[in-house]
Amino acid sequence: MDGNGRWAKQKGMLRAFGHENGTKSVRETVEACAELGIENLTLYAFSTENWNRPKLEVDTLMKLLVSSLKKEIKTLLDNNIKLSAIGNLKSLPKKVLRELNEVIENTKDNKRMTLTLALSYGSREELLNTVKEISIKVKNNIISPENIDESIINEHLYTRNLPDVDLLIRTSGEQRISNFLLWQIAYAELYFTPILWPDFKRLHLYDAIIEYQKRERRFGKTSEQIS
Ligand code: FPP
Repeated sequence: MDGNGRWAKQKGMLRAFGHENGTKSVRETVEACAELGIENLTLYAFSTENWNRPKLEVDTLMKLLVSSLKKEIKTLLDNNIKLSAIGNLKSLPKKVLRELNEVIENTKDNKRMTLTLALSYGSREELLNTVKEISIKVKNNIISPENIDESIINEHLYTRNLPDVDLLIRTSGEQRISNFLLWQIAYAELYFTPILWPDFKRLHLYDAIIEYQKRERRFGKTSEQIS
C-alpha cells in the first residue's frame, strides 16, 4: 500500500494525513474483495524495515492501526470477514497486539474472506524464522533432513494457513517486491500501478483483476498443456 507519503506531500500536508486517507482505501478494497468473492486478501501494512522511520511516524501508524481495528470490527463482523496477522507480532507495542488479538479472536469463526495484515513483516525474517524452527525439529529428531520438502517449509511460514499468492498489486509506481512474501509469490502475477495508495479505489482494483484475468498462468508448462 505504497504512496501515502507522496500523496500527502502533493497536497502540502503531513505524511500522517496520507496514512489516514490510506485507511479509506483499505476499507474500500476490503469491501470490494469480499463482494467479489475473493477468499484471501493480504495487506502489507508495516514492514520490518518501517521501524527505521522517524519515531513520530511509527507512533502515528501504530495509533492508526489501533483506531482502525476498533472502528472496523463491526464491518468485519457484518461482512463475515476473519482477521489474521503475519509478521514478527511480538515486536508490536502491547496496545496494538492486545487490540489485534481481540479482533482476531472475535472474528475467528468468520468464513467469507480472510483479511491478513502483514505487520512488522519481512520475508527474509520469516524465512530465517522458518529455518530456525525446522533446524530445532531436526536437532530434536522430530523431522529428518531427507524429509524436508516444500510442504514442510510452507507449514513453518507465518502464512501456513494461506494459499500461494495469485495476484500481487503494488501501488505508487514502484516496481519492486520489497521483502514481501518472497517464497509465496513464486508464481504470482505482478501488477504495478502508478496510483498512490490513498487514491486506490474499487475501480482500480477491478482494473488489476481484469488484467490478471487476461494473463496465462502456465506454472512452467506450455500453453498447449494448460488449454
Ligand atoms: C507506504 O506508503 C505505507 C505504509 C508504510 C503504511 C500503510 C498503512 C496504511 C495504509 C494505514 C493503516 C493500515 C491498516 C491496515 C488499517 P509510504 O508512507 O511509504 O508512502 P511514500 O512511498 O509516498 O513515502
